Amino acid sequence: MTERTSIHGQWSSRLVFILAATGSAVGLGNIWKFPYITGEHGGGAFVLVYLLCIAVVGIPIMMAEVMLGRRGRQSPINTMTSLAKEEGAGSAWSLVGWSAVLAGFIILSYYSVIAGWALAYVFRVAGGIFNGADAAGVQTVFTDLTGDPERLIAWHTLFMLMSMTVVARGVRAGLEKAVIYLMPALFVLLFVMLGYAMSTGAFIEGLKFLFEPDFGKLFYACETVAGVENCELSGGPVLVAMGHAFFTLSLGMGAIMVYGSYMPKGISIARSAVLIALLDTLVALVAGMAIFPIVFANGLEPGSGPGLIFQTLPIAFGAMPGGQIFGTLFFVLLVFAAWTSAISLIEPAVAWLVENRGLSRVRAAGVIGMTTWVLGLGSIFSFNIWSGDEYKLFGMTFFDLLDYLAANIMLPLGGLLIALFAGWLMKRESSMDEFAMQARRYDLWRVLIRYISPLAVVVVFLNAIGIF
Ligand code: PHE
Repeated sequence: MTERTSIHGQWSSRLVFILAATGSAVGLGNIWKFPYITGEHGGGAFVLVYLLCIAVVGIPIMMAEVMLGRRGRQSPINTMTSLAKEEGAGSAWSLVGWSAVLAGFIILSYYSVIAGWALAYVFRVAGGIFNGADAAGVQTVFTDLTGDPERLIAWHTLFMLMSMTVVARGVRAGLEKAVIYLMPALFVLLFVMLGYAMSTGAFIEGLKFLFEPDFGKLFYACETVAGVENCELSGGPVLVAMGHAFFTLSLGMGAIMVYGSYMPKGISIARSAVLIALLDTLVALVAGMAIFPIVFANGLEPGSGPGLIFQTLPIAFGAMPGGQIFGTLFFVLLVFAAWTSAISLIEPAVAWLVENRGLSRVRAAGVIGMTTWVLGLGSIFSFNIWSGDEYKLFGMTFFDLLDYLAANIMLPLGGLLIALFAGWLMKRESSMDEFAMQARRYDLWRVLIRYISPLAVVVVFLNAIGIF
């Protein structure tokens, strides 16, 4: 095969690829979503399934995505089309690319709304309203914000504009450099939070919640209403844990594939993927270890939903010395983490518009940004004017529904198809050539991608619909 080149450019080094992909992976998923879904699904056992999914499903599929991207060197839609042709597979495989673009739209629409909350919190913490605040005071600030659609729209708009600006300029101009400082800084701050969590007196309780598995909770969905816990048999948590493994590693929707298409040749895909997955997991676990002790020390509910970090961390910032500064910095960094993820959510669609419709990056970003912005309004209203039961489907608000559909159905399905394509349809020589790694490691990957990862995804889906 003649080596392709990407019309969109290339990362300047291995380090930059790792930072960009880690920037995509580490985001609201780690710091906002992981703690709240872990809280909703009972802790330890859920975390264990999530870790297992990262190892046997996430890492092999991440390797497959990078490999396909680097071989195709185009947007996921065109990469899948070209590779399918090259490997003698049907043209229907381009649908993987289309579903990727659609999932990116859906996720970004609500991702931007939550990133907007983080933006709003930068100013709230900096203004000192949390100084000395108790759990009830912090709660009021949160419900005031989420109850006001106009304010939410303003923050959502600001975040969308920020993301579009970066995408329009191209990934290399600006963000590449910012990421080098911001990601390590976020890490350091998470450790500061961890230090505070250790001083709360509930640190061990928090650790137990996170790491002591209670398998009963995996098969039951529990909700606490006014201090009384109600549990129902459900196959949900396992699917949510797997869906989150995809979500947190940015898999199943072309983000990692498109980043792989900008990866220079001669860099180890396997080692990069393992490193990215480890960093991502570390951030999530540290976030969990920082948040749950605060939850228990203040008598809060671990299962209180998407507001969890916004209702817990400000208590810590309000109580600790220098909290106003640390807190401001923390939310600034959270916004950056979300920002570097958001751009990867739209890059597949932007790359396609540039390739196939001849649009400039600026226009492509504009078109996509506006469409996503409109869809985001639905999620905004889910927290206020549409929060009532009459607006719910299957007991979920519009926001919950989009998140469930994208993270738990579209991403695993996309990942499954990617695994089948890379493992079964692509010729051994093609993938081996692209990976250029030791034969034994290659064989391990091949067993995982052909049998283990697809089987795991199918079993979890079957479990979720009630079959075993
Ligand atoms: N991985 C990101 C996070 O954890 C979210 C994301 C999902 C980004 C899918 C890109 C693609 O926040």
